[in-house]
Amino acid sequence: MLEIKNVSKTFNLTGNAADTRVALDNISLKIEDGEFVTIIGGNGSGKSTLMNIISGVLLPDEGKVFLGNMDITKLKEHKRAKFFGRVFQDPMMGTAGDMSCLENMELSFRKSKHRSPFKWGFSKGILREYFKRQLSEFHLGLEDSLNQKVGLMSGGQRQALTLLMSASDTRIDTLNEFVATYCDNHLGSLRSEIEQAKDKKEKRNLNLKLKDEIKNYKDIATKFYEERKKVYLEKMEQAKTDDEKIDAYIEFNNSLHDYNQDRRILLLDEHTAALDPKTSKKVLELTDKIVRTNHLTTLMITHNMKDAITYGDRLIMFYQGHLILDVRGEEKSKLKVSDLLNKFDEAEKMMNY
Ligand SMILES: Nc1ncnc2c1ncn2[C@@H]1O[C@H](COP(=O)(O)OP(=O)(O)OP(=O)(O)O)[C@@H](O)[C@H]1O
Ligand SMILES: [Mg+2]
Repeated sequence: MLEIKNVSKTFNLTGNAADTRVALDNISLKIEDGEFVTIIGGNGSGKSTLMNIISGVLLPDEGKVFLGNMDITKLKEHKRAKFFGRVFQDPMMGTAGDMSCLENMELSFRKSKHRSPFKWGFSKGILREYFKRQLSEFHLGLEDSLNQKVGLMSGGQRQALTLLMSASDTRIDTLNEFVATYCDNHLGSLRSEIEQAKDKKEKRNLNLKLKDEIKNYKDIATKFYEERKKVYLEKMEQAKTDDEKIDAYIEFNNSLHDYNQDRRILLLDEHTAALDPKTSKKVLELTDKIVRTNHLTTLMITHNMKDAITYGDRLIMFYQGHLILDVRGEEKSKLKVSDLLNKFDEAEKMMNY
C-alpha cells in the first residue's frame, strides 16, 4: 500500500509573501496494491507536486509518505527509483533518441541491477527474445524495429516504449536486497516504536527485541529466496526453448516481488497529452493492458475527464491543493463529464467565497 499522510507543500521562489503558492494542503490518501487511480484537476492544482513527492523529487514541508510499513518520506530519489516507474508528457524524456529500441531496453534492464539472472544462465540472446516478446504484445510494430534509433520513431511508439520500460519490473533482487526489503516490511513499526521510546530502559529492551526479530526474519526470507532460486535454476536447466527460460525468469521475479509486496508503482503524468487522439487512445489501451496484466498500482494524471472516467478503478480530483473528490467502483463508472465539471464549479465557489 502507498500512503500519503497529511502532506503539505508550499512554494515560494522569491521570498515575497505574494508569491507563495500552496501546492498541496494537508493531503491524505491511501492507495491499495493493484489500484488504478486516475487524477484530474486544473492547472497548478498540485497533481504533479504529489507525484514529485511520491517519487522523491520533492520533500514535503509536512507529512509523510509510506510504502507498506516503510517510511520513505526522506528516502533519496535514486534509492526509491526501483519502486516507481514514471512516464511524463514529453515523449523525448523517457528514452535516449540516439540509441536503438533494444539498447534503451537493455539500459533500463541494467539500471535496475540484476546481474544475477545473467550469472544464472539468462544470456543476452534470451534477454533480446524477452524484449521482443514484450514489444510484440503492443501491436505497434515495435518488435520489428529493435535496432531502429528511437529518435526516428513516432511520439506514440516512443511513449509506448517508455511505458513498457517503466512498467516492466526486470530487477531481480540479490539475496541481500530481498532480505533487507523483507525485514523493512516487517520491522517498520518496531523501528518507529524504538524511535519514539522515551525511557532508556524501554529503548534498550526494544533494541534487543529488534535484534532477535531481524535474525528471525532474515532466516525466513533467506529460506524463501534460496528455495525460489533453486526452482528457477532447475527450470533453466530443463528448459528447451528460450521461451521456457523467459517464463522461468518471469516466474522467479514475480515470486520475489509478490512475497515482499514490492511491485512497481506506475506514475503517469499526462503521458498521452502530446499524442494525437488516435495514438493517445492506443497508448491508453496499452496502459490499461499493462496495468491489468501486471496488477500494477497506478496513478495516472490526465486533463481528459472522459479518459479519467473510462480508465482506472478510482478517480480523484484536485482543486488548488485540496482533494475535492475521491470515488471508486460503481460510483466512478456512473460519473459523467458534467458531474466533474459541476464538482469543479462547486469547489470554485466554496474556496473563493
Ligand atoms: N518546482 C516548483 N517551484 C515553484 N513552484 C512550483 C514548483 N512546482 C510546482 N509549483 C507550483 O505549485 C503549484 C502546483 O503545481 P503542479 O505542477 O503540482 O500543478 P499540476 O496540477 O500538475 O498542474 P498542470 O495541470 O498544469 O500540470 C503551482 O502553483 C505551481 O506553480
Ligand atoms: Mg502537472
